[in-house]
Amino acid sequence: MDFLDLVKRRKSTRSFLKKDIPKENIETCIEAARLAPSACNSQPWKFVIVTDQQNKEKVVEAILSGIYTDRSGINAFIRTAPVIVAIVNEKMKLTARTGAFIRKIDYSLLDSGIAGEHFVLAATELGISTCWVGWFNESKLKKVLGVPKKKRITCLIAMGYAKNDSDKQKIRKEISEISSFEKY
Ligand SMILES: Cc1cc2nc3c(=O)[nH]c(=O)nc-3n(C[C@H](O)[C@H](O)[C@H](O)COP(=O)(O)O)c2cc1C
Repeated sequence: MDFLDLVKRRKSTRSFLKKDIPKENIETCIEAARLAPSACNSQPWKFVIVTDQQNKEKVVEAILSGIYTDRSGINAFIRTAPVIVAIVNEKMKLTARTGAFIRKIDYSLLDSGIAGEHFVLAATELGISTCWVGWFNESKLKKVLGVPKKKRITCLIAMGYAKNDSDKQKIRKEISEISSFEKY
């Protein structure tokens, strides 16, 4: 698929069919994430993939607990996703940490974002829909997934086959607002 067509095809999906995703397709997405660039090639990420139905139920309860409750309606759709991916932030290499300290920029967040979008675009290419989810009960989810307390789950990716193929137009800023040549 033409790259720009692929990018246009990816849109956040919040309603999924009750249909499993073949494991080899998930593995393709992981491979796409694995090949992502990162500061000093630190690769500071781990993708925890939840596919098992029983495990998923516990994971969903954790995600939607406390103030993140599905009564708020915001991310209740995650219940319909056959697969949930948690992106765990891992420690960067010393060189990247030193650079990040001097520049006061957490490169690991950028790195996981890039790897996550590689994952998402690979899924799109395979006809699998996704939605990034940043609003969830992280501490409860860490307990359920066995993620060490001091690590962060930066984001989730809900994935599955879309119930309806939405023709929703993308609302985006104008090119002139987000870019300029030569000077700010
Ligand atoms: C870091 C991040 C966190 C997000 N968190 C949520 C979320 O918690 N719930 C949700 O429904 N969508 C979430 N989204 C999806 C955005 O709302 C969506 O990408 C944006 O509105 C643009 O729409 P599109 O993805 O269909 O192009 C998140 C997206 C990103 C990149």
